Amino acid sequence: MADIVCFSGNGMSRQVADGLRSLGLGSDDGSLGFVFPVYGWRPPKIVARFIREGLVSRLAGRSPGYVWAVMTCGFDVGYADKVFDQLLCPVLGRGLDAAFSVQMPDTYIGLPGFRLNPPEVMDGKMRRMAERLPGIARRIQMREHVRDLGRGVFPRLKTHVFGRIFDRFFVDDRFFHATAEKCTKCGKCASNCPAGSIGRTGDGGPVWRRDGSCTGCLRCLHGCPAGAIEFGWFTKGKRRLGSDEKGRCE
Ligand SMILES: Cc1cc2nc3c(=O)[nH]c(=O)nc-3n(C[C@H](O)[C@H](O)[C@H](O)COP(=O)(O)O)c2cc1C
Repeated sequence: MADIVCFSGNGMSRQVADGLRSLGLGSDDGSLGFVFPVYGWRPPKIVARFIREGLVSRLAGRSPGYVWAVMTCGFDVGYADKVFDQLLCPVLGRGLDAAFSVQMPDTYIGLPGFRLNPPEVMDGKMRRMAERLPGIARRIQMREHVRDLGRGVFPRLKTHVFGRIFDRFFVDDRFFHATAEKCTKCGKCASNCPAGSIGRTGDGGPVWRRDGSCTGCLRCLHGCPAGAIEFGWFTKGKRRLGSDEKGRCE
């Protein structure tokens, strides 16, 4: 069994997965690794869907000897690892052997008060991530049974109450729209959407499907070359990442 299963909305988890691969993880060593962000102190919907619907075929009958996850976050992960354990159990008959969190630049700007980190904060997080990964890789290679996570304060409340409310009401593509005067109808938002949640109108503009598939990653918004996409009124005037990331659970 090879490689690391990674989902990345805007490239942060991708960088962590690539860093871990460069440190020797993901080779055919009988372990199974996951790298993904937390959204609302829980695994993203698209990750949950992959575990329920895609993991069995990915395993192709093999049973991993050691299962680990690295979760990326802007601040803290709450009990996201425990939610992930519950997703894994019906498929693998067990939860994670090891889980780690790594702080990365925060990509969430969808509600009032949430903005991208200032550049110096982003740089600091990237530096600390590079320092932290070798230790994580070593502990995974040693097959440690460990939970080394920044859970933050009130983790239960965050994951099981706020996170559920967030998932239910704020991970919803009906809040997205493209500003007509700015949208060039280039189609990048549709082709880059990891969940396939964006179609195109007859004249090429984006149309969000509103079928429950949106995972809320904001890649459409961060990656729009014209800065045309907004999430309700809450993203107006806020700095974007300019993300060019491609990614699904792979
Ligand atoms: C919809 C959404 C919800 C988020 N929720 C949290 C959160 O609950 N806690 C946190 O620390 N960071 C949160 N973040 C920040 C991301 O977890 C963090 O920036 C992550 O590294 C992004 O990784 P990605 O680019 O691979 O998606 C959220 C980001 C988004 C887009």
